[in-house]
Amino acid sequence: MTTLGIIGAGHIGTALAQAATDTGYDVVLSNSRGPETLADLVDALADRPSRRGTVRAATAAEAGAAGDLVVVTVPLKAVDDVPVEPLAGKVVIDTNNYYPERDGHVAALDDETTTTSELLQEHLPTSRVVKAFNHVLAADITARRTPPGTPNRRALAIAGDDASARETVASFIDELGFDVVDLGPLAEGWRIQRDTPGYGADLDAGRLTEALAAAKRYREM
Ligand SMILES: NC(=O)c1ccc[n+]([C@@H]2O[C@H](COP(=O)([O-])OP(=O)(O)OC[C@H]3O[C@@H](n4cnc5c(N)ncnc54)[C@H](OP(=O)(O)O)[C@@H]3O)[C@@H](O)[C@H]2O)c1
Repeated sequence: MTTLGIIGAGHIGTALAQAATDTGYDVVLSNSRGPETLADLVDALADRPSRRGTVRAATAAEAGAAGDLVVVTVPLKAVDDVPVEPLAGKVVIDTNNYYPERDGHVAALDDETTTTSELLQEHLPTSRVVKAFNHVLAADITARRTPPGTPNRRALAIAGDDASARETVASFIDELGFDVVDLGPLAEGWRIQRDTPGYGADLDAGRLTEALAAAKRYREM
């Protein structure tokens, strides 16, 4: 079994825990308030007949250390609190989005000299960050999973600077139930940020590719 460490147990963390345990991953979930606050959620996830992998709660550092693959799915303002050392050498999926009204203004995101996932990569210099799951509603992660080859199978975009890390995440996403469109380096992740044509849209790989190509920077909108 492969272990998925999840840092952030909100909408996306919970949906990924459900989809991953149903796929057969062992999941270690964490939040900011401590594992004891996740007892009810762990019980609910464990009680599902569709579950194949195990699920338990831990601290963020423990979840990071336990994961063969780690997901960071916390609000942008918490990115600097993500533990660095336990994630060293690992592939780390970043689901983050930037909503200034929610997250406060970040100058480098406002002037588009960087992207949210590049900020996480800066914070985790020894990890290989891949942007993924940022443009799919949490509910769709569980509701829209389908087997490979399904006509019009929903596709998700990924971006990351390390090609083998992108391959790892692409395989994970395919196992969970989605096709993948690979954007290449992290800096291309803006093509699937808030307010772009592909953001939130339920598209197969062909239509997602077109949407990514049609994306405009905020300064050009
Ligand atoms: N909701 C969606 O459908 C959706 C879709 C795509 C992308 N996203 C993006 O994904 C990110 C997470 O979204 P969400 O909706 O899942 O958020 P959420 O429901 O607000 O959950 C956030 C989680 O992060 C945890 N957290 C906060 N600070 C932490 C820290 N320092 N260490 C460990 N855990 C911490 C929180 O734990 P506590 O409660 O203990 O503080 C909570 O479990 C956001 O950037 C969002 O824009 C969301």
